[in-house]
Amino acid sequence: RPLVVAIDGPSGSGKSSVSKEVARRLSLAYLDTGAMYRALTWYCLDRGTDLADASAVELAAEELPLDISTSPHAEYVRVDGTDVTDAIREPAISSAVSAVATTLGARTELIRRQRALIEKHNRRMVVEGRDITTVVAPAAQVRMLLTASEEARLRRRGIQLGGTQSAEQLAAQVTQRDAKDSTVVNFTQAADGVVTLDSSELDFEETVSAALRIVTK
Ligand code: CDP
Repeated sequence: RPLVVAIDGPSGSGKSSVSKEVARRLSLAYLDTGAMYRALTWYCLDRGTDLADASAVELAAEELPLDISTSPHAEYVRVDGTDVTDAIREPAISSAVSAVATTLGARTELIRRQRALIEKHNRRMVVEGRDITTVVAPAAQVRMLLTASEEARLRRRGIQLGGTQSAEQLAAQVTQRDAKDSTVVNFTQAADGVVTLDSSELDFEETVSAALRIVTK
């Protein structure tokens, strides 16, 4: 029986950790689509692709030799055999990824691959990103938008980065990225039929439980 759980949300909403745990508890496959945009960004920077050149970025997307984990138990991302799991989380990637993600031709290609991966897993997968509930899998059995107040999101992002950056730097980076991203995908408001889960006042366990309740309802 198909069970696609589509989860969208902004930076720092807790999307990745919550989605992964939901997949584990339900024995579903798991796909982090943000990691795909990050991997494409890594590939472009590695090859010296001009991110302002839309056709070059689109071509890079089509050629991207990507191997990404679809297991919630083992996280890895490889590009042409190189393990880029950690490299794609570097600040240089985070600040360049929106330029890649706003290239429509590149999105088309990554969305095609995301749908193929969902099919490959017989539509039993938790898929998280920015446009999963609206574009990638609008027919998903479960669709939710994971939100959190700006304060909560920045706090979590700060913890995740190990507290090496100043609060102002963090705020500026995350806000800028969300602003750029939202020019192509709307992930700040739930589309029709999408359940909003606000995690501002919830800890990790509480958020996972709330998400599981939405799935089993
Ligand atoms: O680090 P964070 O959780 O904020 O983001 P991510 O999920 O790793 O996604 C990184 C970037 O990929 C986002 O800032 C978007 O530019 C892009 N993205 C997208 O455009 N569409 C998706 N479905 C997922 C990510």
